[in-house]
Amino acid sequence: MPNLSTLITLVRPHLIEFGAGMASKAGSWAVANGFKRILVVADAFNARWVDVLGLSGEITIFGDVRPEPDVPNLEALVAVGEAAKPDLVIGFGGGSVMDLAKLAAVLPGSGQTIADVAGAERVAGKRAALIQVPTTSGTGSEAGTRALVTDPATQNKVAVQSNYMLADLAVIDPALTLSLPAQVTSAGGVDAMAHCVEAFTSLRAHPLIDMYALEGVRLVGRFLGRAIADGSDLEARAGLSLASLYGGYCLGPVNTTSGHAVSYPLGTRHHVAHGAANALIFPHTLAFNAPAAPEKTAAILAALGIASGKQENVFDAAHDFCSKLGCEMRLSGFGVPRDDLAAMATEAHAIRRLLDNNPRDMSRDDILAVYEAAY
Ligand SMILES: NC(=O)c1ccc[n+]([C@@H]2O[C@H](COP(=O)([O-])OP(=O)(O)OC[C@H]3O[C@@H](n4cnc5c(N)ncnc54)[C@H](O)[C@@H]3O)[C@@H](O)[C@H]2O)c1
Ligand SMILES: [Fe+2]
Repeated sequence: MPNLSTLITLVRPHLIEFGAGMASKAGSWAVANGFKRILVVADAFNARWVDVLGLSGEITIFGDVRPEPDVPNLEALVAVGEAAKPDLVIGFGGGSVMDLAKLAAVLPGSGQTIADVAGAERVAGKRAALIQVPTTSGTGSEAGTRALVTDPATQNKVAVQSNYMLADLAVIDPALTLSLPAQVTSAGGVDAMAHCVEAFTSLRAHPLIDMYALEGVRLVGRFLGRAIADGSDLEARAGLSLASLYGGYCLGPVNTTSGHAVSYPLGTRHHVAHGAANALIFPHTLAFNAPAAPEKTAAILAALGIASGKQENVFDAAHDFCSKLGCEMRLSGFGVPRDDLAAMATEAHAIRRLLDNNPRDMSRDDILAVYEAAY
């Protein structure tokens, strides 16, 4: 287990504006830094209210980012970037938008394609300035250096990681998330919690990150139920925006483990929303890992406000937490055919980059047993 003498690198935007009503800081920062040609990357929902960013100058809006964007979606954006030649790119949306905005800051005019930059630190240095403005709370993508784009041929996500894709400024305005429907709110909140929980119990867990991880879990425990019950609860929205940011801090240096690995095939093979898949799997992997990390598991349950007292109650406590949030807790409820479980287990078990850091070895049969129990 890493400890205080273990080396770690924490990469975060050096400037973060946080608070309701902060959105227009994007425009004032652009003016203060002399940026005049701006490309705003958004989805169809957020493209309609780009005004809140308070921008001036020559503004191009690409408002066509799709959820879980694929390579053709990115290519259309890069073509717009090639024509607009922006000196500043602004990602204004959820994780899907912010991931593509990172690539829109580095790919146009570079001669590099997504295939050239897939992997770690393969992006050539030249880039536009980048502001990230999240409108969901879940991915923490505003704080990170990673972008995920789906390859339509394989349905797998191509991951690009580069320190050149780090935002110069992150503007986190919780008021922008007031319009999120309850389902997107719960999926995002559980995703943020899963980033924190899995980083906290990872074999790579580090004291520098533990603080963010545990506080992120606590914020989700305190505010997710409130935000689902009343979407206009601005304090709850702010709590979730912060949890999402802290989850983003966890992803870079530590990253997730079994919860995400076991969840991924639900998304790639059956198009279950990422947070919904995380919620379904969460009680199973938390309970599976509990014997290997009893103190940290107890701390997680306490942070969520659902302390179980006994180790055997870990599953029930976590399951109860998710089902009270309205999450679907049966795999069959997502229309996943039973005869695909074996192939899903094989696929999940192959995600070694995550599973190798799980606190307890999880065999393919252990994963299959989770799917069967969840069915
Ligand atoms: N870079 C990373 O480290 C990282 C981490 C986790 C996930 N991701 C990626 O993030 C993506 C998922 O992002 P997400 O969960 O934020 O969802 P999303 O960006 O796909 O958005 C989900 C839906 O919510 C809508 N929406 C966005 N903001 C809204 C608002 N304020 N009000 C109402 N509707 C709104 C969008 O139009 C979309 O239909 C995936 O592609 C995933 O791979 C990236
Ligand atoms: Fe996630």
